[in-house]
Amino acid sequence: MRIYLIGYMGSGKSSVGKKLAARMGFSFIDIDQHIEMEQNLRISELFKQKGEAVFRQLEHKAILETFSHDNCVVSTGGGAPVFFDNMKQMQKFGLTIYLKAEAAVLASRLQTSLFSRPLLADLKSEELVDFMQNQINERAAFYEQAHLHIEAKDLTPALLHERILLWLSTA
Ligand code: S3P
Repeated sequence: MRIYLIGYMGSGKSSVGKKLAARMGFSFIDIDQHIEMEQNLRISELFKQKGEAVFRQLEHKAILETFSHDNCVVSTGGGAPVFFDNMKQMQKFGLTIYLKAEAAVLASRLQTSLFSRPLLADLKSEELVDFMQNQINERAAFYEQAHLHIEAKDLTPALLHERILLWLSTA
């Protein structure tokens, strides 16, 4: 079984994914971290030095590589479902879970780590929430294809992963 966590930046994919994998005895794969290690570059540097198109190619390749692993929880970058046929493939080879939250909530969570998000780092603080909400709206058609949608707004990663476990036990 493969579980793919999808959703916008700040929705808790990595923290929830780690907890979920530990509880299920699955391995945990973080696509961004995988790319950083493979390229020996932080994502922000990769965007600067090679551009977004190269990052999206590497992201696509990393997602395809997960299909040769079993029993894993995969945390994907916020844009992953939108590029190539990533969403369709993840749907086919795994169970996709959308951690959903609105921009204002995500923006406040990202306050201290904006510098590491190249798509957000250069925005003025007054532009941030609108930019994020527009991008969430543009991506919604992809996110909403997920098998399971979870409202992530008020839930800590601990509660979110419990909710996913409960859903899996009844599915
Ligand atoms: C991106 C999200 C980031 C990272 C890159 C692009 C996006 O991952 O992949 O900065 O397009 O939303 P997180 O969602 O883990 O922050």
